[in-house]
Formats: sequence, C-alpha cells, structure tokens
Amino acid sequence: MKFFVDTAEIDAIRELHELGMVDGVTTNPSLIAKSGRDIKEVTKEICDLVDGPVSAETVALDAEGMIAEGRELKKIAENIAIKVPLTWDGLKACKTLSEEGNMVNVTLCFTANQALLAAKAGATFISPFIGRLDDLNLDGMELIADIREIYDNYGFETQILAASIRSANHMSEAAKIGADVATAPPAVIKAMANHVLTDKGLDAFLKDWEKTGQTIL
Ligand code: G3P
Repeated sequence: MKFFVDTAEIDAIRELHELGMVDGVTTNPSLIAKSGRDIKEVTKEICDLVDGPVSAETVALDAEGMIAEGRELKKIAENIAIKVPLTWDGLKACKTLSEEGNMVNVTLCFTANQALLAAKAGATFISPFIGRLDDLNLDGMELIADIREIYDNYGFETQILAASIRSANHMSEAAKIGADVATAPPAVIKAMANHVLTDKGLDAFLKDWEKTGQTIL
C-alpha cells in the first residue's frame, strides 16, 4: 500500500520523506487554510520535495470552473493530481481533465455507487472518507471493502485512496482490504510505530543492561 501524507505542512512532509514513507501528498482547502500559506506557493514547495502525486483541490462548483482551476493548478508541477468533488459536475470535470492526460483524484466519496461513477469517468484515484462515515456510526472500512470488490470484479484501474484516516488501526485495516493508497496525517503515520509492549520491553532491557556494567561503544 502506498502512503500519501495528508497535510500542507512542509516540515512534517520532509521528516517522513527522509524516511522513505511518502509516496505522495494530499491537500484540500481546509489543509491549505490551516497552513496559512498561498496555495500555489505551498503546493509548488511540496511538489519540489516529493516525486509522487500531489493532490491540489479545485473549489469551483461547476464543471467549467473546476476544469479551468484544474488546468491552472496543473501548471504548478507535472506531479499534480487535480482533486475534484464527487458531484455530477465533478464527474464531468474528471472526464475532461483525465482525457487531457491529467491525474484526477475524485474526493468526498461516501458510497460504492459514487466510486463506480468515478471509475467510469476515468478517475486516477477515488477518495472514500473512512473517518467521516465512522463519525456517523457507519462503517467506513466496509466502504473500502465494497469498492475493492467492485473495482476488482470489472478490472477498473482507478486506485482506491483511503482517506479521512484517523488512527493507526485504520491504516492496517485499509492495507488488509487492499486499498491501493492510504492518506493520513503525519501524526497517524508516526503512531503506527507505537506499542505499549515495545516501550515496556525496551525499558526492561535497558534496566537489565545497566546491571551488566557493560558498554557497546
Ligand atoms: O483526505 C481527506 C481528509 O483530509 C479528511 O480527513 O479527518 O478531516 O475527515 P478528516
């Protein structure tokens, strides 16, 4: 499973990138607002740092507007994936922008039917939002499994980009189901390294080591 990092914070992307954990980046209008940066400036910096796809989201509501914004965002760098919402106009924009040779990420997906339409419209990525479904006492992971099954039934090449990931468990569950990509905040990716038994075991080893009076270096 590829790891995308869901942030517009350059330092956090750089830290994970140095460890080889970043296959791409996703941003959205909320993350750009949180960064306090200009969208083109910060997106360019991210694209200079990361070779993989960097999603930049349009904000127009009509297809023509999304297409125009998408073409403008694509000028930032070759590795831009244009992100459009899963509305009827978003699907029209997806079709046009995909046919022009752009990577398109269709976002705000909450049903298998929406994912099926995005694949038919030529999406490179479909972004089902796990956490926001869980927030409503629905099962976000079940949606990932449904989309996997449907895409595999028909050989759709659209990549499932599990999004709105809130916990390390979401990462492993998405990987078990076979999501192609998961995008998560930096803190969630770092939390994947944690286990209380690792901390406890390390503590016990170090206490025993002290008793030996030895040093390695
Ligand atoms: O990639 C989409 C993601 O940013 C949404 O996450 O936690 O705001 O639902 P969240």
